[in-house]
Amino acid sequence: MTGYFIAFEGGDASGKTTQARRISELIGAIFTREPGGTDAGESLRELLLDAKTPLAFRTEALLMAASRAQLVEEIIRPNLEQGLHVVSDRFLASSIVYQGFATGLPVNEVRGLSVFATNGLLPDLTILIDVPVAESMRRRTDTPDRFESETVEFHEKVRQGYLTLAENTSDEWAVIDGSGSLKHVSEAIDEAIRDRLGLSIGSTGS
Ligand code: TYD
Repeated sequence: MTGYFIAFEGGDASGKTTQARRISELIGAIFTREPGGTDAGESLRELLLDAKTPLAFRTEALLMAASRAQLVEEIIRPNLEQGLHVVSDRFLASSIVYQGFATGLPVNEVRGLSVFATNGLLPDLTILIDVPVAESMRRRTDTPDRFESETVEFHEKVRQGYLTLAENTSDEWAVIDGSGSLKHVSEAIDEAIRDRLGLSIGSTGS
């Protein structure tokens, strides 16, 4: 029996990293993140997030895909095959939305590149934490990286891109309103995981 693969998605400062870590602990999953998660991936991440290094959009898409390919090969697939669950903070949908919908590369080509990278592996459940852009901008504190330095318009495209994907793909998605309290958001996520995957999740204590 293989484990479940759950991806968390959302705009910057949507709270998905906190939630992905929390769920990962609750279900005893392997936690990972993108871009990154492997030695090669973390090197690519530094380059990808460095706002001072110019990157053409296609280069950006290829490096995101390269990081993903390594993560699937080295971490995600072997753990799933051993029966462990894997939780990833971002996965393939991030590329479709950021490099496709928001920067304007052809969405189907970006998807094709990503599916090549994962050799067809897709999440069993993608949890989208949806937060209005104005709210996520308010939540930011640290020095902005390449993507956080983008305009409000870019982040609006990211948000709409995610909502469009969640509605139109046949993959399993759960859209969670991320603008409520931490407790509220946590409960909605727990419920989605219970309902969609049948995993038993106790009280979160959050
Ligand atoms: P990170 O610091 O992990 O941001 P967050 O906490 O919001 O997840 O930075 C990851 C950034 O990389 C984020 O702004 C989205 C972007 N990204 C893409 O543009 N394409 C991708 O395929 C992935 C995985 C991330």
